[in-house]
Formats: sequence, C-alpha cells, structure tokens
Amino acid sequence: MKIFMTGATGYIGGSVAVKLLGLGHDITGLVRSETGAAELRALGIHPIRGSLDDLDVISQAAREADAVVDAAEANHEGVVAAIVDALRGSGKAFLHTSGSGIVATRADGRLVEAVYDEFTPVVPTLPRMQQRAAIDQVVFDAARDGVRAIVIRPSMIYGGGHGPRKESFQVPALIEAAKAQGIGLHIGPGENRWANVHIDDVVDLYARVLERGTAGALYYAENGEDSLKAIAEAISRMLGFGGKTREWLPEEAEAAQGVKAHTSFGSNSRVRARRSREELGWQPTGPSLLHDIESGWYRKVHRGG
Ligand SMILES: NC(=O)c1ccc[n+]([C@@H]2O[C@H](COP(=O)([O-])OP(=O)(O)OC[C@H]3O[C@@H](n4cnc5c(N)ncnc54)[C@H](OP(=O)(O)O)[C@@H]3O)[C@@H](O)[C@H]2O)c1
Repeated sequence: MKIFMTGATGYIGGSVAVKLLGLGHDITGLVRSETGAAELRALGIHPIRGSLDDLDVISQAAREADAVVDAAEANHEGVVAAIVDALRGSGKAFLHTSGSGIVATRADGRLVEAVYDEFTPVVPTLPRMQQRAAIDQVVFDAARDGVRAIVIRPSMIYGGGHGPRKESFQVPALIEAAKAQGIGLHIGPGENRWANVHIDDVVDLYARVLERGTAGALYYAENGEDSLKAIAEAISRMLGFGGKTREWLPEEAEAAQGVKAHTSFGSNSRVRARRSREELGWQPTGPSLLHDIESGWYRKVHRGG
C-alpha cells in the first residue's frame, strides 16, 4: 500500500513508519528540512518537502496515497481538514494521532478517580484539549463522508523509538529534571496517574488499525498506569539517588518545561484501551514503564547499562 505520513521524522511517526516499511508498504513522508529529508531517505521513505501549513502539498500527497497516517501534531486543525477533504468519498484509511491528554484536568498532582475507555464520553476542560477534541470530532465525522477515518489516542509513550527520533517527551523530561536537581520530582503529592504504553506496542496498534480499524472509531493505546510519584521514585533509583523524591512546584515545572508542564506532569490521564484489545486483538507485550526506567532502555541510555 502507498502510505502518506506526517511526522515521519518524529518519535511516534518514525517508529510507525519503520514498522509499516517492514510490512512491505511504500511510504512518503512530509518533511520540513533537508536534514529531515535525508533521515527519511536513509530509512527508505520518500520525502515530500513542506510544513504542516503547506496544505496544498498535504492535500495532493493524500490524494495520491492509498492511506494517510497523521502523526505530527495532534492540535493542527488545518492538516486534518485538508486530509479529510482530499480523501472524501474515497473509502481510504486516515489514521489521526491524538492523545490521551484529552481527558486531563488540572489536578496539581492529586488523584482523580475518572477512568475512560473508548466508549466513555469525554468533556475536556483544558482549552488545548477542547481544541484537540474538536479536531478529533472532524475525523470521526469524516467516516460519514466515505473516509475510513480513525482516531488513535496514545497515552504516555515510553521506550526507544525506531525512527530518526529515539526519545519521547514526558519520561525524558522527568529524567532530565531529576538529573538537574539530584532528586526525583513530582508535582504536588504525585498521586496523579497516567496510563502508559511501550512504543513497540503503539506501532503494533497502528498496523492493526491500518489493516482493519473501524471507520469513525476511537482507539486508546495503554498497557496499565502508574502514579507520577512511582515514576519519580523509579527515575531516582535509576539515577542513583536512592529513590528519593520531592515535590516539584508547578511554577518550577513550568520554568523548566513550559506552560504545558502542569498537564504533562500534574494531571491524570487514566484511559483503558478496551476497544483496541477486544476488537483488534491487540495485546501489549512491551516491558512496563517502571521496569524500562530502572532496568531497561532508560537505564542503558542514562547510566550506560
Ligand atoms: N510521545 C507521546 O507520548 C505522545 C502520546 C500521545 C500523543 N502524542 C502526540 O502525538 C504527536 C506526535 O508526538 P511525537 O512524540 O511523535 O512528537 P515528535 O517526536 O516531536 O514528532 C513530531 C513530528 O511532527 C513534525 N512536525 C512538527 N511540526 C511540524 C511542522 N510545522 N511542519 C512539518 N512537520 C512538523 C516533526 O518534524 P521535525 O522532525 O521537522 O521536527 C516530527 O516529525 C504530538 O501532537 C503529541 O502531542 C504524543
């Protein structure tokens, strides 16, 4: 199959692209720099030069493909609209990458009880997540216009990527902050919990959704959840700080990681990938997050084995 991708140089997109290449697909990737184009060529992906704002380039590439995977930016409204317009009536697959942060509320490190599966309605309260939900809705609606349009919402992804970008965002940011302070960090009491999933299981889910995902469906990607305190303790042990942690003041976290810090590290994102498992037979097998931090990929990268 000829597949057009956005975000193929990124952590999710690059890993998905490598998986799809391995399954024999032919991939074209939107890329905004010559460095990125060279990275894609090295993998055997055909680069198309353009940014997410070059909607004509995106439309044409989508029309020329048999399927589209959007893995660049969950909050880019223009890209989704352009792809839906290009694929309308074609019956082609369109996989849009959103994120489980959509269920997050401002919690400052406290536990929120709400747990969501693909059939639980979500009413986002954070403005960025309201915008994300509106974009996801455009994708769901496209299923009524002859597009096999599907939203995938990964939770906190961890593990080494398979494309040009090896690192995700949340876990590496927590590791770097802990290194800088000499102690593990969590916002407030760190009781807040995030579902999480290994990158190898994420790419397996994308392959299954591409092959037989239902038009108009939502799929979460998750393999359990951990509190941010447990993650901070694992990072602290891995870095040799004896499991010690301290409270990371929200303003300190924002100074280090920007305004989205309270969502990324202080909120709850408790999702369950019920539909992914039941409908697609998806069975995540990757190492757990805490194991990957203390004894797996993160230990190897940050402590040399
Ligand atoms: N990682 C996670 O745990 C996770 C979980 C759930 C949802 N998500 C969401 O999924 C999306 C992708 O995440 P990621 O972790 O793969 O991010 P990433 O590693 O930063 O990759 C982003 C990709 O999008 C491309 N891109 C960004 N802005 C662009 C622009 N203006 N024009 C052209 N290309 C552009 C990047 O290209 P360059 O190489 O040129 O920068 C890169 O290929 C994000 O919206 C993220 O919020 C991530």
